[in-house]
Amino acid sequence: MFFNTRNVNLGDHQKIIDVMPNWWGGRDLTSGLSKIYFIHFQNSSFVTLNDGNIIGFLIGFMSQSIKNQAYIQLAGVDPNFRKQGVAKMLYNEFYEICKKSSISTVTSCTSPVNELSIKFHQSMGFEILKGDCIENGYEITSNYLGEGNHKVLFKKDI
Ligand SMILES: CC(C)(COP(=O)(O)OP(=O)(O)OC[C@H]1O[C@@H](n2cnc3c(N)ncnc32)[C@H](O)[C@@H]1OP(=O)(O)O)[C@@H](O)C(=O)NCCC(=O)NCCS
Repeated sequence: MFFNTRNVNLGDHQKIIDVMPNWWGGRDLTSGLSKIYFIHFQNSSFVTLNDGNIIGFLIGFMSQSIKNQAYIQLAGVDPNFRKQGVAKMLYNEFYEICKKSSISTVTSCTSPVNELSIKFHQSMGFEILKGDCIENGYEITSNYLGEGNHKVLFKKDI
């Protein structure tokens, strides 16, 4: 199968919002994906296309305050195209743009209930950072994305 990866544009926003709840198994994380990312972080955010349709995306940015770090806000792949290396391709694309900006560490986070994402990040070589309590057997950082929105934090040196 032929996959094509390119930088995001504003026109991609609604298409991704429309598929996200299905891609996340019914969980609605669309509030984490405002148009701002599709306007101000185009250079470090990507979509993968198959036959003109978006089958994967990665939204990320370089930290403004920690000069050697970047952060992946959200990444997802169409369930029909999983386990074919699409996410790995998107992450590698992101690492390449990071390296060009002398960034050596990529960070991200996920919900403690998202076992799939935790396993995926571990497969991709991310370590789980020490948090302030344990939930579902994982170190978590409380209230990371807002009140009650606890997260497992990841870090990988690239
Ligand atoms: C997580 C997700 C992005 C992975 O996408 P994918 O295209 O299937 O992943 P890839 O095929 O590129 O796999 C990359 C590596 O992760 C591993 N992996 C992928 N899915 C996995 C899973 N469910 N459990 C364990 N490992 C997994 C692969 O085996 C591969 O490792 P390898 O190179 O050692 O073989 C996709 O399942 C998804 O969109 N999930 C729902 C949204 C989500 O949770 N996003 C992540 C947090 S923002």
